[in-house]
Amino acid sequence: MKKMIIACMLVAVSASFAFARPGHRFDSTTNSCRSFADGAAEFASRPWGKGGKAFRSSCKSCHTRDNKVGATFLWVESKSSKGWNRVFAEKKVVCASDGSWDSLTMEQLLSLNDYLFRFALNSGDMFDSA
Ligand code: HEC
Repeated sequence: MKKMIIACMLVAVSASFAFARPGHRFDSTTNSCRSFADGAAEFASRPWGKGGKAFRSSCKSCHTRDNKVGATFLWVESKSSKGWNRVFAEKKVVCASDGSWDSLTMEQLLSLNDYLFRFALNSGDMFDSA
């Protein structure tokens, strides 16, 4: 019995480790910790919050399937959380350097990065991403 409880605890611990819901991320552009644990920030990083909306209106205007501008099809699970952080930290992708991101405010970019980070491939929230 005792063994079972210990085994179960180990499974629970490892499962929660593997699918840990990301509650925060370090943002290297602002050198700050972004927490999605509370109210406004939590909502902004959701698919229907500011971050998800900015992704659909500003990124998916080009990154759809069969687009005419030669952009790869992108969706939230195209990259891991780390991969998305890198895209925003380095801004080396073609569209970030050619001015296509210029209409986005700093606040929108941060929420956008929060959203993509949270629901990315291999993140704990990918199972309920939209
Ligand atoms: C005006 C059209 C346009 C907009 C708007 C746009 N992109 Fe791009 N993006 C491109 C093109 C063209 C490329 C170069 C071709 C490619 O690699 O997809 C590119 C490349 C990329 C790449 C590298 C491709 C890859 O698979 O890693 C990423 C990541 C990316 N964009 C993310 C974004 C994000 C995030 C946004 C919104 C903030 C965005 N793009 C907005 C046109 C656009």
